[in-house]
Amino acid sequence: VSELYDPELYDASVGELPGEIDFYVRLAREAHEAGHPVLELACGTGRVALAVARAGVSIVGLDVSPAMLTRAREKASALTNARWVEGDIRSFALEERFGLVTIPIRSFQHLLTTDDQFSCLRCIREHLVQGGRLALHIFNPDIVRMAQWNTARRGTFQRYREYQHPRSGNRIVASESVVYRTAAQELDATYANDEIDGRGAVVSTVYRGMTLRYTYRYEMEHLLARSGFEVEALYGDFEGGPLCNTSVEMVWLARRPAE
Ligand SMILES: C[S@@+](CC[C@H](N)C(=O)[O-])C[C@H]1O[C@@H](n2cnc3c(N)ncnc32)[C@H](O)[C@@H]1O
Repeated sequence: VSELYDPELYDASVGELPGEIDFYVRLAREAHEAGHPVLELACGTGRVALAVARAGVSIVGLDVSPAMLTRAREKASALTNARWVEGDIRSFALEERFGLVTIPIRSFQHLLTTDDQFSCLRCIREHLVQGGRLALHIFNPDIVRMAQWNTARRGTFQRYREYQHPRSGNRIVASESVVYRTAAQELDATYANDEIDGRGAVVSTVYRGMTLRYTYRYEMEHLLARSGFEVEALYGDFEGGPLCNTSVEMVWLARRPAE
């Protein structure tokens, strides 16, 4: 798993979604005002967790990748209210209980089996105070995109993003090639990063592959219910819009009911 992402390039490569950071900071402040800290699962380099800590909220970030956590620690060196823990989101045991657990930017899709999804959700529930909340963000499966990748685009690489290398300043052109295995609800993605220097020469091309699971709306509802959560809201974006046919995102807000 630690090789899935390049810690040096990660922050530059991820575009913040409209309203994304504000959404998490607002929920974190609500937990903080009720007297509870926040836990971010699969926190990576702390892209979201740092904004929460800077808002004055105590946060624990948990990730399986030591390299991503090292980057998070470097970025957070001036903060005293952020703690970083190496662990697996499918099975973790922390002493604290939290008012909010977050799994931003589709990290839940790294869990490839229903058992793993359950283990993660049950672990989250155990770590929430009564009435505590879970904010979970995944893709809304896009049937048009799936059909395109499995027909006309099959075997091709499509450019999807350009950004600057944080150290060399070179241009990075990111391309992807995807195959959807619809019976398994999994996709195999290959990402190719071309680093291009000032003269237009390709300095390097790095390939990375990852398999992700996708989950439908009502399947997620069942998973949450069976793991002991009440759904508070489902949004199609981070600005409170409803889930609709063209929504790219699914943003779930669920609660551990008070007993
Ligand atoms: C897309 S990054 C998200 C990082 C961060 N939450 C953000 O919003 O930028 C996904 C992260 O999930 C982590 N990850 C993947 N599978 C994991 C697992 N089973 N347990 C813990 N972390 C995992 C990876 O190491 C990576 O840092």
